[in-house]
This record gives sequence, structure tokens and C-alpha cells, in this order.
Amino acid sequence: MKTILKTTMLLFSFVTCLVNAQVKDVYTYANYDQVQTTHIYLDLDVDFDKKSLKGFAELSLKWVSNDTNVIHLDTRDLVIERIMAQHDSGAWVGVPFTLAERDDVLGSKLTITPSFNSKKVRVYYYSTEKASGLQWLAPEQTAGKQHPFLFSQNQAIHARSWIPIQDTPSIRATYTARITTDKNLLAVMSANNEPNTPRDGDYFFSMPQAIPSYLIAIGVGDLHFKPMSKQTGIYAESNIIDAAVAEFDDTQAMIDESEKLFGPYRWGRYDLLILPPSFPFGGMENPRLSFITPTVIAGDKSLVNLIAHELAHSWSGNLVTNESWRDLWLNEGFTSYVENRIMESVFGVDRAVMEQALGAQGLNEEVTHLAPGDTQLYIDLKGRDPDDAFSGVPYVKGQLFLMYLEEQFGREKFDTFILDYFNNHAFQSLGTEAFVVYLKQNLTHKYQNIVSDKMLNEWIYGQGLPTVVPKPTSNAFSIIDATTTQLLANELALEDIRTSDWTLHEWLHFINNLPLDTNLSLMKSLDNSFNLTQSTNAEIAHAWYLLSIKVGYKDVYSNMAKYLKGIGRRKLIVPLYKELAKTEEGKAWALKVYKQARPGYHGLAQGTVDGIFAK
Ligand code: BES
Ligand code: ZN
Repeated sequence: MKTILKTTMLLFSFVTCLVNAQVKDVYTYANYDQVQTTHIYLDLDVDFDKKSLKGFAELSLKWVSNDTNVIHLDTRDLVIERIMAQHDSGAWVGVPFTLAERDDVLGSKLTITPSFNSKKVRVYYYSTEKASGLQWLAPEQTAGKQHPFLFSQNQAIHARSWIPIQDTPSIRATYTARITTDKNLLAVMSANNEPNTPRDGDYFFSMPQAIPSYLIAIGVGDLHFKPMSKQTGIYAESNIIDAAVAEFDDTQAMIDESEKLFGPYRWGRYDLLILPPSFPFGGMENPRLSFITPTVIAGDKSLVNLIAHELAHSWSGNLVTNESWRDLWLNEGFTSYVENRIMESVFGVDRAVMEQALGAQGLNEEVTHLAPGDTQLYIDLKGRDPDDAFSGVPYVKGQLFLMYLEEQFGREKFDTFILDYFNNHAFQSLGTEAFVVYLKQNLTHKYQNIVSDKMLNEWIYGQGLPTVVPKPTSNAFSIIDATTTQLLANELALEDIRTSDWTLHEWLHFINNLPLDTNLSLMKSLDNSFNLTQSTNAEIAHAWYLLSIKVGYKDVYSNMAKYLKGIGRRKLIVPLYKELAKTEEGKAWALKVYKQARPGYHGLAQGTVDGIFAK
């Protein structure tokens, strides 16, 4: 009896294992091993008064199993009004559905139960104010202050808060959309935007390449368009559009260089949408239309690696996609590597190496604070919200891994490997394990005795950083280090440092490497000489404020308060709140600022900062 039980249990776990092998993404309720969305049609009205998108989503379905007629979709905080399904005859009928209780991470599973096998369903619904993937901005929160603004941010699992959908990067679909809104506003999407479309509040879109749900995107506001080249242009509010065009006019050169290295750009146009400052990220690689924070418009192109990054996703991420959020490093590590190659091609090797070195130093610092499990490339998310496990690891450790492979095999072989990797997996999703198989076959086993399986495992499954890591070294940074040493030893006067030709990167390296016991009089003299507290470069200001909190230099506080209230980009504000929260006094001050800043932040940023003060 016992053995029978044991065998049945074994068999059972074997079968579950097989099923699990097919469904790899644990962040979706979709039964995508049975039915898959191939096309989505959205028909939505944008209602700024109610902060709601209302209409229907029509999903075209491909059945891969004939065991069931049931369709499970992801939703979060949606109100579902009714659902229709289409018979093979073409007739539409109402069909039953249930909406399960809301899970904090996953949302509410929508189960549609037609009595027949349907190839098209229409879900009539509206989104609510709670939609985690949308930010509705009042006119005061925009650059022009006259009109409201709406933008979406779907990655990682927020598409479900405004579209009932199979919300997993394992599934790709084409989409079309009709969006209606106020007549004086323009809607844009991650699709075929028409620069000269009549501004009549009624817009059509089509995205003919199949993309995962996290890349569906919408922006609505008092937007205007200016071309930068035949293929590229800027959508922005009119008072920042010229600055954006001037800042980002190397975008075409970036595309041209990427194509030489990584194969054709397969998406047609590449435009940028400049968002209001509350956008919680630096950029988001929505296809054909990257969403960009205005905090990178520095006036000197010093932060345009962000554009190289979002453009790079047109290969790593949008063309070849991570199949689950555990595999995020396949998107972000490859993209950070490709980004840096683009920067090297367009701006030269010195700048590229400085950017590598800044990244590596940031990572080294960051891994000392992270839980060991979160330092793995192939991360075990353990059911946590993928947003909560976000760090620099998939980016910089992933990039260093690829730089390591490049160093070991030489650029020529490695470039061929990457080019083939993109071409062989174009418009597909894959996970870490499939990648490792491909990597062995096409690189590490093809050219033997260069990189062992053990080394690969250390990089991909190991914690912290491997024993052999590329160490980007920049001459310019060595010179800064020597200057700092002399300065601290009082061997050099501030007036004698030639900072006039320092780049942003040199400034960041300088500030980031000042010691924590830097005395306040030196802080003050640095400030007087270089105006750091007033810096209009968002990254320099960030680095200076962070150091100032650490060393207790209070002169920055009033400017820092303005900064924290003026921008909502998580990477720039969260480290400041974290550092402030370390002392009672700092925490009290930060809470006061946050109280005023919070209403202007995106839900994602609010969530992260709330978490800091809840501790
Ligand atoms: N795709 C990411 C943003 C993202 C990642 C959103 C994970 C949600 C979950 C985007 O491409 C990105 O990495 N942006 C960075 C750019 C930087 C590394 C140059 C950012 O926003 O800072
Ligand atoms: Zn990215």
C-alpha cells in the first residue's frame, strides 16, 4: 500500500513537473499552455474626469489544447461589465465569467467559460483610479500646466490594471487600437504613430509586430511632434520639445551603429516620448516609441546613454524577450551591454569605459546591501512582487558577464555570437536555461577550454560576483583619484584643480569617491567653487545630495527638498529617502518633504518610498 502511494505521489509530482515545464511564468493566471492570444484590439475612451479607460478589449485566440473552452485572463482593479464570445459562424453571444478575489501581487483572475470553443472574445470593462499601470496627471503636474496627461507603465505586471490580458512575457500578440479622448489632446502608443495625424481626439493605431503585454503603451497629453531625422523624432509638450530635439539628435546615429553590430532595426520608426518628471523610470523601451524622463535633458548630451539603452532593447528585450521576470537579466544585462557598445561606437571608447566603471562601482556597492539571493542573475523571486526585487544586478552583473565572455573569446567571435543569437530568437521569448543551452552550443563548447561550465554556473546561478570579473579602468578616473588624494592631503588647492573640461562622468566619479569623513568646510568650499547644490544636472545633484546626507552637510537641504518634490524618477529619489531615513532627524525631515511630494509621485514610487518609512 505504502509503495503504491509513494509511486502515485512520485508520478503525480512528475506530471506536475511536466506541466510546470510548459507554464514557466508564475506571475500570470493565464492558461497559456492551452490558449494563446495572437491579436488584441483595444477600443477605449480616455476619461480624465473619472481617471478611467473605458471600452472593450477583443482578444483573438489560438487554441493549443482541445481539452477545454475555458479562458483565464489577468486583471487588477478592473470592473468587468460583460463578455461576448464569437462562434465559428461569426455570431457574438454573451458568455459567463467569474472574477476571483484580488491577490496583492497577481490581481484578480478572470475566468471566462463559454460553452463552445471561441476564437474571439470581447471583454467590456473599465479601469479604475487604482490602476497600477497608469498615472493620471493634473495640468499643474505637466510642463505646460494647461492640460492633463496620462501615461502607462506596464512592465513588469501592470498591463492587467488597464487591459484584461494574458499578462506574461511568454506570449506575444500584435495589436490595433482606437483611442478617443479630448479634442485638444494627442494620444500616442507603442505602435505606428502618425506624426501628422489630425488632432481630432479620435486615433487609430496598429502594431503589426507581435509583442509581449508589457510593451503595450499609451500616452495622452498636449503633445506635439518634431522630427530629428527621417526615422526618428520627439513627442513632447511644446515648451520642452526643442531642448529634447537638441539633446537627443544623435538617435539616428545610434540606430545606424546598432544595425552595423546587431542586425537590422525591425520596427520601422523610432520616436521618443518625453514624459512629465513624475515618470518613475529613466526610460521604458515601448516599441517604436521609447518613453523618456525629462531628467536626462541636461543640455550637454551627458545622459544620452539612456537613449542608447532604450534603443538597445529593440534587439534585447523587444525582439528577444525574457520569458518570465526571473529571467529579467536576459533583457537588462544584454541591453546594458548593447547600450555600452552603442555609446562606444557613437561617442568613443573613453566615455564608454567611464560608463562601465561607474556601473561597476555602483554594483559593488549595491551587492553589499542586497540579500544574497537577490545577487543572482537567475533570481528566485519566491512569489514576491517582481517590482520589489528590482536592483542593479540584472543590469550590471549581466553586462559584466557579457563583457567577460567578450574578453575571453575576443570581440570578433562574440559579436558573431550575439548577432546570431538575436536573429535565431527574433520575436521569441526564452528563459535562462534555454539561453545557457544556446550559449554552450554556440560559444563555450564550440570554442573549448576557454570558459568552463563551472564558470558559467558561477556567473548565472552564483551569488555575489565571480572571482574573475572584468575591471573597467579609465585613465580619466585615475587622474581624478590622484587629484582627490592630493586635495584631501592638502597638497592641492581647489582653485588649482582644472575642472573646466571635466565630463559628467568625471564629476560623478569624483563625488562618489569622496570619503565619508569629508569635513564640512571642504564640502562648503567645493560647493562655493563648483555650485554643486544648484547643479541642473539631475545625476550630479543626486550624487552630491547623497554624499551631503552621509557627511551631514545641511546646506543642500532646501534645494534637495525642491528636487524631491520636482521629480519622481525612482532611481534618483529612493536612495536619498533611504539615506535620510537612517537617522531620526533625517527621517523626520524626509517625512515632511515626502508628505508634500507623495501626491505627485507615480504609484510605483509611492509604494517604494512608503516601504522605506514603514520600517
Ligand atoms: N525596462 C526598463 C525599466 C523597467 C525594468 C521597468 C524593470 C520595470 C521593470 C528600462 O529599459 C530601464 O532599464 N531603464 C533604466 C535605464 C538606465 C539603466 C539607463 C532606468 O529607468 O533607469
Ligand atoms: Zn532596460
